Amino acid sequence: MSQPSLASYPALRLRRLRQAEWTRRLVRESRLTPSDLIWSMVVHEGEGRVPVSSMPGIERLSITEAAKAAREAKALGIPAIAVFPHIDGAGKDAVGSQAADPNGLIARAVKAMKDAAPEVGIMCDVALDPFTDHGHDGVIEAGRVINDATIARLVDQGLMQAHAGCDILAPSDMMDGRVGALRAALEAAGLKDTLIMSYAAKYASAFYGPYREAIGSGKLATGSVDNPADKATYQMDPANSDEALREVALDIAEGADMGMVKPGMPYLDIVRRVVETFSMPTFAFQVSGEYAMIMAAAQNGWLDEERAILESLTAFKRAGCAGVITYFAPRAARMFGE
Ligand code: PBG
Repeated sequence: MSQPSLASYPALRLRRLRQAEWTRRLVRESRLTPSDLIWSMVVHEGEGRVPVSSMPGIERLSITEAAKAAREAKALGIPAIAVFPHIDGAGKDAVGSQAADPNGLIARAVKAMKDAAPEVGIMCDVALDPFTDHGHDGVIEAGRVINDATIARLVDQGLMQAHAGCDILAPSDMMDGRVGALRAALEAAGLKDTLIMSYAAKYASAFYGPYREAIGSGKLATGSVDNPADKATYQMDPANSDEALREVALDIAEGADMGMVKPGMPYLDIVRRVVETFSMPTFAFQVSGEYAMIMAAAQNGWLDEERAILESLTAFKRAGCAGVITYFAPRAARMFGE
């Protein structure tokens, strides 16, 4: 954009526009509303609500509580919920057998939430890690996560989710080719309206730490498989940026409706490049570690909690996001109401 020649001080005093709340409101460039939020939520098989210690204020919800939360989302004006399963250790195995169970936790939770609040969109994670005893997102052979065998399982999982009533499939596994395989399977099954939000640019990040406690895969993905401490053979290298554009381009070509960058705040430069390059609805996931950082600092009295929450969410809008997947969704939406 070519800049018109600027007046100089004192004709130009940028502080004039900041002098009062009304002037600041008048010239504000980005605005955060409940419509920008996707509520990230963990469900479990048991009763009631179970706190996640590394994420103060976050609880795993029973299916009954999740249905209540769906009604709450509707009341708060939150358009969609992203639901993640906590599976007990006994239900896990090497290939994540329960991932595509049509009577499993996710299928029942989705049905309960859609019954409770049909107007609220439900998004499901397509990935095997909550269901595998090693905590990796795919099937393992000879110490490696195998791409194509994993895709076949992801397709079963995604179809099950769509049949259960899930509106948005969100593959978070980072296998090559899975968006195309999911799209083809949906078409073949006559599920033409099921949306795909691809975790297109998902980085091998330390910021997922608390999530692994939340879904009960915490001690797992540190085993002896592959690159043990992390998921670097399939998730992206945090040092890369051009590669993110290639990932997004592929997922668009394969039939994704929306893209995602994950984690969020440390990757706003990626969000910006993706938005400017593709002009498609792009979301960021403010992940568990980002949530935990803000809450831990606030609990120590080092940050003003509410201001930090709203500022962090506004930053995603400023970077160009269509919306944000966040554990703060209901809190932020309530703050807008006040
Ligand atoms: C796994 C998955 C992860 C998250 C969402 N889906 C973690 C991982 O890749 O290890 C992270 C969510 C969060 O940290 O809040 N498929």
